[in-house]
Amino acid sequence: MREASLCTSLEEFLAGLAGEFSLSPAAAREVVAGFHGEMERGLGGEKSSLKMLPSFVRRPRGDERGGFLALDLGGTKVRVLAVSLEGEGRASLSAVSRFAIPREIMTGTGEGLFDFLAGCIGDFSAAHRLDRRRHHELAFTFSFPVEQLAIAAGRLIAWTKGFAAGGVEGREVVGLLRAALRRRGLEHIHVVALANDTVGTLMAASYADPACDMGVILGTGTNACYPEKTERLRKYPAAGPEREMIVNMEWGNFDLLPVNAYDRMLDQASLNAGRQRLEKMVSGMYLGELVRLVILEMISQGLLFQETDKPLFAVPYSLTSEHMALASGGDEFFRALGIAATTPTERRSVAEICRLVATRAARLVGASIAAVVAWMDPPLTSDHTVAIDGSLFEKYPGFQEGMREMLAELLEERAERIKFTLSKDGSGIGAAIIAAVAASMPGAAGDLLRRQGKGRKAAGYGKG
Ligand code: GLC
Repeated sequence: MREASLCTSLEEFLAGLAGEFSLSPAAAREVVAGFHGEMERGLGGEKSSLKMLPSFVRRPRGDERGGFLALDLGGTKVRVLAVSLEGEGRASLSAVSRFAIPREIMTGTGEGLFDFLAGCIGDFSAAHRLDRRRHHELAFTFSFPVEQLAIAAGRLIAWTKGFAAGGVEGREVVGLLRAALRRRGLEHIHVVALANDTVGTLMAASYADPACDMGVILGTGTNACYPEKTERLRKYPAAGPEREMIVNMEWGNFDLLPVNAYDRMLDQASLNAGRQRLEKMVSGMYLGELVRLVILEMISQGLLFQETDKPLFAVPYSLTSEHMALASGGDEFFRALGIAATTPTERRSVAEICRLVATRAARLVGASIAAVVAWMDPPLTSDHTVAIDGSLFEKYPGFQEGMREMLAELLEERAERIKFTLSKDGSGIGAAIIAAVAASMPGAAGDLLRRQGKGRKAAGYGKG
């Protein structure tokens, strides 16, 4: 008897949860309309949750050439890469080094973080025997909201994704990197471009595919960029003679969203309460945390596990999207968390929670992409390739399908005009392309680079 009533309330709870984590087509249309309003305000420099940040570059033409270094900082890893642009849309990586960022560096002092980055470049330079008598041009992919001032200068607006290094918010980050390079005696490294990872991803994919007009990251964080007509970028009238400029939307901060009690709880306990609301519903850093909060609530209500199991779920952010991806595969999820014995009901319930949280995330991304494509091309008469990087897109079972379903519900057969392409490691390669494009652009960006001596031939790497 007790078993039966428990079951009913468990089913009731899960049915209620499905409602709380649903995104109906009507709600999705509101998200699209919300995006359009916030994009308009952001481009005009009015108050908006979408910052719509100018990047100072347009898309590449595919014929850019040269050898560049790239430093890619965005999540828990730093990469230093050597990229060869061979023209005809071909780019290759000739060397890569990866470094894990210790937690104490992410949340320590700004100087400590930039010294760490300079150290990674120093190690790369030594390992690949860079000629110290030549200058080597480096593009810096810095995947945080930056108020860009020029192609190679920008101020960090606010940290995201768990970074909190002191004294960096509000500062110009290329200057901080240059100072750290000088402290290390790495004067042969010249920082010539600063880019967001979304912009790098779009650049890398559009180098070979002119139909590519959106870059999206679905990893630790989430964000997107697209080429905007310069006349619509009203807050930045001095955009120069180019007709388009890529805009970093910082869509992770979008906040006209149907949130539930778990979203509110997660936000309140986060390092950046009130900010990055879409990111907190969508990206890899947060999905596991939402699942953990739901499980804890169910334990408290006596619907799942035992009260004594609570400590297993007590540590914030201990449940990750990698764990979630295992949930539909029997007890693998539980083994990964170190939980030995589970019942079929427990396994089924956890799988259902993960499915609901991940499906809402995928549908929100689908609606967000629909909003941006519809902004660029309201009747949807052209083909659009969306370059996407990040483990959720690449690896999470069913995520891409969820995104596509949302697009089809919103755009019907016109959704077929939108193609997704995985742009793996695009952010680093794309940064190098940015450096090359900037060198060829007239106006502020090009001038700045010329002042830094980009007239000379770039040093070659590998095949380049
Ligand atoms: C966060 C950052 C943003 C970045 C995204 C993906 O949202 O604020 O700049 O593009 O993560 O890495």
